[in-house]
Amino acid sequence: MITKPSVLVARAVFPEVLHKLEQHFSVESNQDDIVFSAEELARRLQGKAGVFTTGSERISAALLAQCPDLRICANMAVGYNNFDVPAMTTAGVMATNTPDVLTETTADFGFALLMATARRMAESEHFLRAGLWTRWSYDMFAGAEVHGSTLGIIGMGRIGQGIARRGALGFGMKVLYCNRKPLDAETEAACQARHVSKTELLQTADHVMLVLPYSAEAHHTIGAAELALMKPTATLVNIARGGIVDDAALAAALRNRTIAAAGLDVFEGEPAVHPDLLTVPNVVLTPHIASATIPTRLAMADLAADNLISFLVHGKALTPLNAPAP
Ligand code: GLV
Repeated sequence: MITKPSVLVARAVFPEVLHKLEQHFSVESNQDDIVFSAEELARRLQGKAGVFTTGSERISAALLAQCPDLRICANMAVGYNNFDVPAMTTAGVMATNTPDVLTETTADFGFALLMATARRMAESEHFLRAGLWTRWSYDMFAGAEVHGSTLGIIGMGRIGQGIARRGALGFGMKVLYCNRKPLDAETEAACQARHVSKTELLQTADHVMLVLPYSAEAHHTIGAAELALMKPTATLVNIARGGIVDDAALAAALRNRTIAAAGLDVFEGEPAVHPDLLTVPNVVLTPHIASATIPTRLAMADLAADNLISFLVHGKALTPLNAPAP
């Protein structure tokens, strides 16, 4: 009798995705959605050939050393800073993520957060709910213009390009970007975007949007020095990863009005949020939901599951991040 390989689904997931995995694997699930400690994750990975992870599971060299049977980690996220990819390659473990399927949904959300931030939607809603709205006044919650303004995008991958297209084509914005590598001329033209230095972008943009992947080099891409370069009327939006912004420095800049406002979907040390950010009014805070629509989350979960199936059953991952020796 051929026994099915065993896999762990480390967090709760759509039942239909579990059902699909069960056609191919002996599945240990976690529908109670407990966030496992590193020790618990290592314990549950004993005898498992694959694991379905989310950003909350850290795959480190230390964990890999305890899990000799593990052959693939399939992340249900496009970002994979929870993976030590070089250590996975050395350990012969395949790493996969979920690119493309969340691009447009995440770009929509980046734009929504930009609009909410520039037009002070959270602050004004809190004012209304608190019963403070007694009369109209000419400058009440006057915000920053979005249409026709200058948008600066740091990190011009697929999601950055989606935001650029929305800005340029939908809102008549002038789009500047900086990226490790400038785009090819055709893509740049489709996005109607111009490559500039980070300093020029920070000094010129009315709205700065962060969409770059997290890495050690990207840590605190925006700190006190960068915030000081921005216009006092500018907004900052972070839909990338916590740690790309120095949240303490940002809270100080918002309180001092070094910049006008910020919109944050990701935080250093999330789900904890820097306490100072909770006390400044000019920030819109959302709990890491940029890709959160049911069709997109289902597509992400499906792709992570398909990576496990494709690799463990057919020997080939669909969206690999590394090429470990077989
Ligand atoms: C979400 O943050 C992702 O990386 O998919």
